[in-house]
Amino acid sequence: MATVHNSADKEQIASVVLMPGDPYRARYIAGKFLENAALVNEVRGMLAYTGMYKGKRITVMGSGMGCGSMGIYSHELFNKYDVEVIVRAGSCGAYTMDLDLKDIFIPDSCWSQSTYAHTYSGYEKDIVEPDPTLWKSLCEHAQNYKTGRLHTSDCFYYKKKEDKHLICEQKHCLAVDMESFALLHNADQAQKKAATILTVSDHSLKKEKLSVAEREQNFDAMIQIALDTLAS
Ligand code: ADE
Repeated sequence: MATVHNSADKEQIASVVLMPGDPYRARYIAGKFLENAALVNEVRGMLAYTGMYKGKRITVMGSGMGCGSMGIYSHELFNKYDVEVIVRAGSCGAYTMDLDLKDIFIPDSCWSQSTYAHTYSGYEKDIVEPDPTLWKSLCEHAQNYKTGRLHTSDCFYYKKKEDKHLICEQKHCLAVDMESFALLHNADQAQKKAATILTVSDHSLKKEKLSVAEREQNFDAMIQIALDTLAS
């Protein structure tokens, strides 16, 4: 069985999936952390690998950027491949002085102005939440982390930067990504589990961002937490 976006057979995808945004990150994770990793999808370059981590079979697959892309891949994983759990591991921009570059942020809720959830299912609200058990397990594995509300934005670039900060204040969001809202909503609709772990890669107020090398160093620590959670 394959879909138009994923050429893997059903049995080639594990029941738990780790999703970085960047498909090259999926390749990096498979090479560094998984044993006997096999490439199971490369349609549109959205690389997916399945292998073993601490005795647990895990698939790691890119989500792409934005709710549209995450929406497609996570919908198919949950509904066509019978995946039970997805953890998104990515980066976020900080909106508050309470977060610093490199901090690990595990959001306990996610607000968005995206029409994704309404279009997908008729959902009327603008806030979604991670699975509480999975969220708690991520927090326990991380130990050193911050939590709060995430903004999932449809835009990376804003014509007026102040609009971003207004959103943060009004909606009580501490950080921003572009994918979590779609993932958490799809999980909820499929009665499956999902949560997000992020590292702060840029800071809106402090006007700082991580270098490529720093991003990579930090990435490994976050991936270890996500994989240990999925394997537990
Ligand atoms: N991911 C990392 N930094 C981001 C930002 N500033 N806006 C949206 N998504 C992000």
